Amino acid sequence: MLLGVFMREFVLYSRLGRTDSNWVNLHDAGRLDIVYECAVASLFLSHGIRKDTTFHAILNGPPSPPIHLKVEGLTLHDVRTDQQTWTNILKKVLSGKTHPGITTEKLSFEALIRVKAKRSSVYVLEEGGRDIYEVEMAENSVFVLGDHVGLPKKVEAYALRYGQKVSLGKKPYLAATCIAILNHILDRREFSGKSHSG
Ligand SMILES: C[S@@+](CC[C@H](N)C(=O)[O-])C[C@H]1O[C@@H](n2cnc3c(N)ncnc32)[C@H](O)[C@@H]1O
Repeated sequence: MLLGVFMREFVLYSRLGRTDSNWVNLHDAGRLDIVYECAVASLFLSHGIRKDTTFHAILNGPPSPPIHLKVEGLTLHDVRTDQQTWTNILKKVLSGKTHPGITTEKLSFEALIRVKAKRSSVYVLEEGGRDIYEVEMAENSVFVLGDHVGLPKKVEAYALRYGQKVSLGKKPYLAATCIAILNHILDRREFSGKSHSG
């Protein structure tokens, strides 16, 4: 964590994302293409990486779920935004090798949320939630999103023990689009001198 800097974190719950490296392409690997799109939307600026941002995916696909994939902007190196680069990176880390700024470990969604809720406010993204523009966001925020199918009810209920539902409007956006919108809203709040609230 960066001292004196407000952290933003995104957590994608991937129902079917593969937990090994025996696959041919991201889409057929339980929609790891959504993990890739969300990682890029979370961490990349036009010519740089957001050092204050961490992206997490909980992969619940075969053969050994759950796997917590963590990508930290502070230490992320040797990356580009194209799909082939991320295909190589995800294959590498899911086969147990290392890449700067990216880790994998055996950890459930519930355990991750419990840890995160100690230091940050948890927001669950859902169309029917409270309008994000009416929510005073905390300085350290964790945003939880579902994949193409959405969050399983039990998972959503668990996250809501620690946080609240927020909405970006009635239209159902792609998870990566939601992250881009959230980054934009948080950037505007920072630049207007309101930090992350108001
Ligand atoms: C592609 S959407 C999933 C849509 C899926 N049909 C469903 O019923 O949830 C992926 C995730 O993006 C988030 N999301 C999409 N649109 C949203 C919106 N307008 N407001 C808040 N979150 C949204 C939710 O977390 C959702 O689980």
